[in-house]
Amino acid sequence: MTAGDLVAQALKARTRAYAPYSGYQVGAALLTEDGDVILGCNVENAAYPATICAERVALTAAVAQGKRRFTALAVATRNGGSPCGTCRQVMAELGPAMVVYIADESGAYRTTTVRDLLPDSFDSDNLHP
Ligand code: THU
Repeated sequence: MTAGDLVAQALKARTRAYAPYSGYQVGAALLTEDGDVILGCNVENAAYPATICAERVALTAAVAQGKRRFTALAVATRNGGSPCGTCRQVMAELGPAMVVYIADESGAYRTTTVRDLLPDSFDSDNLHP
């Protein structure tokens, strides 16, 4: 699975977004260590705070499917928007070593890492020093 393949999967997931309020569709494709790809899209709600971001849909669905080890995450939006702070925290919890591809709707992407997106994160070491 190349970076371009994973971005293509995120673009596919984006077509499934439920975003009637913002009109901002987001797709995510999460690559597991054993090569599986789990998709996520944003799912909005009339009670706005109940909205779930695409990245957290993919990560939490993966955990529910018994997957715990991830190597990469691709995120696709219309304009290459960057993951929100809450999603960065969840990425740091579940996939601290992941590479992250941030793509726009053309499929152009930039490459970063969870560590660069959220340095000095709060983690389990803080709870159990
Ligand atoms: N959104 C995501 O899915 N991921 C992010 O990292 C940022 C924001 C969604 C939430 C909402 O449905 C829409 O984008 C506008 O904020």
